[in-house]
Amino acid sequence: MPAHPSPLALYIHWPFCKSKCPYCDFNSHVRERVDQERWRKALISELEYMAARKQDARLASIFFGGGTPSLMPPATAQALIDRAQTLWPVADDLEITLEANPTSVETGTFADFKQAGVNRVSLGVQSLDETQLKFLGREHSSREALHAIEQARTQFARYSFDLIYARPQQTLKEWEAELTQALRHAGDHLSLYQLTIEENTAFAHAYAKGGFTMPDEAQAEALYRLTEDIMAAQGLPSYEVSNYARPGQESRHNLAYWQGMDYIGVGPGAHGRLTQSGKRIATSTLKSPERWLENVEKNGHAVELWEAVDVQQEIAERLMMGLRLTDGIDYARFKATSGHELRDYLDAQKCAFYISKGLLADNKLALQATLTGRLVLNSLLAGLLR
Ligand SMILES: C[S@@+](CC[C@H](N)C(=O)[O-])C[C@H]1O[C@@H](n2cnc3c(N)ncnc32)[C@H](O)[C@@H]1O
Ligand code: SF4
Repeated sequence: MPAHPSPLALYIHWPFCKSKCPYCDFNSHVRERVDQERWRKALISELEYMAARKQDARLASIFFGGGTPSLMPPATAQALIDRAQTLWPVADDLEITLEANPTSVETGTFADFKQAGVNRVSLGVQSLDETQLKFLGREHSSREALHAIEQARTQFARYSFDLIYARPQQTLKEWEAELTQALRHAGDHLSLYQLTIEENTAFAHAYAKGGFTMPDEAQAEALYRLTEDIMAAQGLPSYEVSNYARPGQESRHNLAYWQGMDYIGVGPGAHGRLTQSGKRIATSTLKSPERWLENVEKNGHAVELWEAVDVQQEIAERLMMGLRLTDGIDYARFKATSGHELRDYLDAQKCAFYISKGLLADNKLALQATLTGRLVLNSLLAGLLR
């Protein structure tokens, strides 16, 4: 083992929800019955399989995502946390996050999750407006959401919650009022997502039939700029396109993705990126919960992809992830994590052009997308590489 093994982030996917929200295209499913013992054993088994193949690392974070992992028995989280800590050496400040929905069933088990080792909770509040919660198909009321936030605040050292804005007909004034109310209950981190219409969701069908209209580009941009201003004024500036935190309170797990660190993905449809013998390896597992479970029980894992990524694709991925960060891509860190010099791959003329247009900034240490650049990130990325 090297003297300073590199940090490793561990993602564990729980694919079940109580109901399917109309906007959501995550790998989340409603099932009447989940055989908890089979699921616990299978998740542990796939975790062990991955660990056997990725040893030269120090565990820095665990993230239970979903789906709704707060519906998992706390004993399952406990078993996974305990096992993970025997499989790798562990960082002193191991961050363990649980995504949770704000219903009473779930807040009732917060103490048990805390006992299991969870030290950070991320709540899917989505809105504090009753009518909007109904539109978003949520199972909880705004009162329940506020109660869940209060529970998270009292039980966990760190908590965050998600809101979805840029909803149909939403005015700047309405969003400002909702965000201001939310900030009265916020800790040191918030995730603020603009509503997107994802293919094959109930919203995609309703939208295609003219069931509702979405804010146009100018309105979405105005809402984004307003959000940036309010959050910066409150001391929680954006550190990523949709994530806001007091400095030092960023989600270390999510930073690992954006900074191009190694991460392992366990559970149905989980993705991973690992360094092995200097190569970037992409991993993914079977997406269907039932097929995943059957395969793990048969083979010890349900990995369907374990493959070296070619260098061009690796650089493109790292660029896409890194430019989401407000601080951008630190050239030295890029070299240390990838072994490549980012400048060797950039189209210098295009970069200079985007810098002259105020979309990119380069202070010699880091390449950053400006706020205006982040608004058009996908088109920026398309032309940046040679
Ligand atoms: C895996 S989900 C959250 C976990 C949890 N099941 C919940 O709903 O509270 C992560 C977050 O992505 C956001 N999200 C999902 N689909 C979205 C969409 N189509 N547009 C905007 N935000 C979305 C929501 O804020 C959601 O809380
Ligand atoms: S938003 Fe959360 S609760 Fe709703 S379907 Fe997606 S993962 Fe499940």
